[in-house]
Amino acid sequence: MTPEEKYISSVPLDHRKKHAQFFTPPDIAHFMCKWILEQNEISSILEPAYGLGIFSRTIRTSCDVKIDAYETDDIILSHATNYIPKQVNINYADYLDSDWEQKYDAIICNPPYLKFHDYNNSKYILSVNNHLNTKLNGFTNIYTLFLLKSISQLNNGGRLAYIVPSEFLNSDYGVEVKKALLESGTLRHIIIIDFSQCAFNEALTTACILLCSKDDQSKKISFSVVNEISNLENSINNGININIDQLNPEEKWKKYYSETNIIKYNNLVPFSTFAKVSRGIATGANNYFTFNKSKIERYNIKDHCFLPCICHSADVSNQIFSNDEFTELANNDKSVFLFNGCLDNYDDHVKNYLKLGEDSGINKKYLTASRKPWYAIENRKPSPIWVSVFNRKKLKFIMNEAGVYNLTTFHCVYNISNLDTNILFSYLITDVAKEIFMDNSRQYANGLIKFEPNDLNKGYVVDLRLLTHQEKTFIQQIYDKLKCHYNELYVQLLDIFFRDKYTMNLHNIKYYTNILSKIKIELKKVKSYPTINHSKQLSLFELIEHYGIQ
Ligand SMILES: C[S@@+](CC[C@H](N)C(=O)[O-])C[C@H]1O[C@@H](n2cnc3c(N)ncnc32)[C@H](O)[C@@H]1O
Repeated sequence: MTPEEKYISSVPLDHRKKHAQFFTPPDIAHFMCKWILEQNEISSILEPAYGLGIFSRTIRTSCDVKIDAYETDDIILSHATNYIPKQVNINYADYLDSDWEQKYDAIICNPPYLKFHDYNNSKYILSVNNHLNTKLNGFTNIYTLFLLKSISQLNNGGRLAYIVPSEFLNSDYGVEVKKALLESGTLRHIIIIDFSQCAFNEALTTACILLCSKDDQSKKISFSVVNEISNLENSINNGININIDQLNPEEKWKKYYSETNIIKYNNLVPFSTFAKVSRGIATGANNYFTFNKSKIERYNIKDHCFLPCICHSADVSNQIFSNDEFTELANNDKSVFLFNGCLDNYDDHVKNYLKLGEDSGINKKYLTASRKPWYAIENRKPSPIWVSVFNRKKLKFIMNEAGVYNLTTFHCVYNISNLDTNILFSYLITDVAKEIFMDNSRQYANGLIKFEPNDLNKGYVVDLRLLTHQEKTFIQQIYDKLKCHYNELYVQLLDIFFRDKYTMNLHNIKYYTNILSKIKIELKKVKSYPTINHSKQLSLFELIEHYGIQ
């Protein structure tokens, strides 16, 4: 058993999470140590977040140089004492409080990964901003503070290796971090770790290794993705090199390491051209505010005090959510009613329930305490379309035909354009739409994908204003068919249609013709096909004609 395995088996996960103790796998530690040690002369090394000292232990197998280290958790330190190699000076102190003027030839770290609300960020963000003249904001994650401080502590010719979550490469708070990295002129390699067993599996985040060198030898940064540990060494030479002056910190850098879909399509515009995405209703105490029929009977509260509302994404299985489905959920005693005490707060039963809320402290919770009165429900209209917040593989859009409210399990999509909502929805359910939105996603480990409302507002869609009248009629007909009978084949037809209209070529004619021949039977009653008059290998219209779908 390694020291890390022993520690994991004896210390509860809660403690490890609180201190962000996710350990570097030995192979990765070895690779990172090799990078920092590959320089002519080294006389000082820093390990800012020691843990059980995987880096110091690895360095010691080939190098005797003195190592300074920092660690704030006495429990892990008491375990680490059994394995401290020679010449390692561990400070039981916060690295962010350490002397900025102390310089090192090599720095290596797997810093803590804590969101802004899990540590006292303001003091440290201010300190980094003062020292580096940056404008890091309050959302900045502590790992980027470690990174920027360490880079500033490198001696000329020195090297640094950090393993961090890749989130900052694509998030809003990361813009300032990327700016500072580019200005430092030290960043050489960004290696995205894409093993199925990811380095930070328990932390639910994708890791990347950053290799820096404080020399004037390169004006390029290489981006690479490594799918298995044995390819880590090669990643140094096999990345895509981008000139530093071409890298824009304002952009998501994901486009340099994952194939972007945006370049495949013509005429893309921001989704905000057509729609506004906002989060669903946050109650602050779902158990209290949501009701099923039995609970309504139990408290004897009248129906007019409730809003029909989807509270759990699992309750919606179809992509077109109808009134009938809502009634079925209600009859099956699912929690689909949202209590709004403001609708009749003179009623005795409502008063009793509000009193119960106050007796159990519901009125003192974070969200309720800030409302007036505490039991008021956010004023958010039902949206015609929902989109799921967490997604396993692809984004899921749902047509809210029932016109009911939704909690934060879905984001609300409001149509703010002249376009018919059915047309908008028919586009959103296609793979084309999902592929393009994926370029703006926040990826988590284990295939979990999260979209914040702004990821979608700022994401791209094809310019639906370019649809002709005939094309809109065609899409509307397909939507009507989907509404009667949801069949994936219709969605595939829509997908082919949008792919054909907004890409240069239909890339895989055989695949599309196959689908078309399957749809042929289904489509007998859709009469109005769009004519597309532009030079293509073979237009959708020609394909449809060819297969005689009339
Ligand atoms: C992600 S773990 C990495 C441990 C080890 N270096 C490795 O790679 O396996 C980060 C370590 O930093 C410690 N830590 C957290 N905040 C710190 C701080 N402000 N200064 C120094 N160490 C800190 C944690 O207790 C934890 O042991």
